[in-house]
Amino acid sequence: MRETHLSIDDLIMPLFVRPGKGIKQPIPSMPENYQMSIDKLTEEVKILEGLGIPGIILFGIPDKKDEMGSDAYSDEGIIQEAIIAIKKEAKNILVITDVCMCEYTSHGHCGFVRRDDNTGHFDVDNDMTLELLAKETVSHAKAGADIVAPSDMMDGRVGVIRDALDEEGFNHIPIMAYSAKYASGFYGPFREAAESTPGFGDRSSYQMDSHNATEALREVTLDIEEGADIVMVKPALAYLDIIRRIKDSFDYPIAAYNVSGEFSVVKAAAEKGWIDEKRVALEILTSIKRAGADMILTYWAKDAAQWLKNK
Ligand code: PBG
Repeated sequence: MRETHLSIDDLIMPLFVRPGKGIKQPIPSMPENYQMSIDKLTEEVKILEGLGIPGIILFGIPDKKDEMGSDAYSDEGIIQEAIIAIKKEAKNILVITDVCMCEYTSHGHCGFVRRDDNTGHFDVDNDMTLELLAKETVSHAKAGADIVAPSDMMDGRVGVIRDALDEEGFNHIPIMAYSAKYASGFYGPFREAAESTPGFGDRSSYQMDSHNATEALREVTLDIEEGADIVMVKPALAYLDIIRRIKDSFDYPIAAYNVSGEFSVVKAAAEKGWIDEKRVALEILTSIKRAGADMILTYWAKDAAQWLKNK
């Protein structure tokens, strides 16, 4: 009589890739997660494929960052090369790419930063960023990405990305839009993992305010109108109500991102012996599914797949 079933099919594993060879460098704030060079990454993806995990999402840490985030849209960029390598070795796992600039820009913001001549303030230039995001997306698709996931939160990005993909003959590539992405303290460990902490200011001019719920529904409406195929809520745990409201209002697949901070707090408490990690992790993932998520991006994907197999 159980109403909710968590399954391996629901899980997507985020992975971090960096240039080099033979590198599997632990991320201190995210136990059991690593920055991996492409050779190690490919080995890991084969293991995940063997466990039956349907998809991974890739984050790149380039050697060189610059103001324009040029590695993000270079055909020889770290993500592009990683996709090509994975596609040769693992054919039964979907490769999703995070489309954003923050890991590639020297200032760590999600787009092109311009100084306002009148006020002297720095801000992200929305429209200039859209062009770069379109280039980044097309280069991911050319390398073989199966799904693209814009996470930058610039206005109009889904439409621009959809047009760019269609023009280049990638009509079949779905867009998983980070539609309701809140400015959140829960991203802390990820920013260490991806080395993407903004050098100045924060992301509150382009990420959502945690006090707002109906705004999330508006963001979802816009993204669907612009051509999103899957809509995402991020973070997941502090926003379960948002997942449920979207589920009740839209007939669209929903992805929920169980983000780094949600993972790390449990890991830290478990290391101290204060809670039972497996029990708490499965309870959290089940709550996200029960709230209405059709797929969950989670750093527990690999562990949960093993736990669910041996149940
Ligand atoms: C942006 C991006 C972020 C995360 C996923 N994509 C960082 C941010 O918005 O600062 C965070 C994921 C996590 O915390 O696990 N490229």
